[in-house]
Amino acid sequence: MDNRTEQLKEIRDEILRLKESPLYEYRKKNNYYPVIGEGNHYAKIMFIGEAPGENEAKTGRPFCGSAGRVLTELLDSIGLRRMDVYITNIVKDRPPDNRDPLPEEIAIYAPFLERQINIIRPKIIATLGRFSMDYIMRKFLLLLELDSISKIHGKVFKAKAAYGEVFIIPLYHPAVALYRAPMKKVLFEDFSVITDLYNKFN
Ligand code: URA
Repeated sequence: MDNRTEQLKEIRDEILRLKESPLYEYRKKNNYYPVIGEGNHYAKIMFIGEAPGENEAKTGRPFCGSAGRVLTELLDSIGLRRMDVYITNIVKDRPPDNRDPLPEEIAIYAPFLERQINIIRPKIIATLGRFSMDYIMRKFLLLLELDSISKIHGKVFKAKAAYGEVFIIPLYHPAVALYRAPMKKVLFEDFSVITDLYNKFN
């Protein structure tokens, strides 16, 4: 097995037995799966959402419901297929009733996300929604640039990862297009920012 695949599999195995997680019992009770991530283990770009919803927890696949359809459409608009990119979330198990993730849930799953980033070594990290924006901007020491998502969506920030330079782009969560239709245009515009940057690495 490819080394990256092996390391990602280890992460999956650890999360499967993560009894310390406040979401572990809820996963077991509902026969849900943890959602680790999916896509190209050599992707130049990684998308980071919030937490799995019901469809995701039932299948173990990120963004496979209605927000996922929007994400696939947005990727398509810039000529990327899901298999070209890597898609994951900060929180790997579904919070009950799709509520916002709690700080202690983010804290327990974030080290796994950090390992995923260092395994895949993306050149671009696109955050989807304010929770992943907030976490990633702080993690990459962009605290001074951190602002509300309405101010910094679609902007590109340069940062340093353990493996070299990385560009961070905060984006709105694709689900906003489902309840605020005009936001879809904003998402398309923000995604178009990715194109030039992405082409630099190909
Ligand atoms: N919303 C997210 O943030 N992640 C998913 O995987 C699905 C919906």
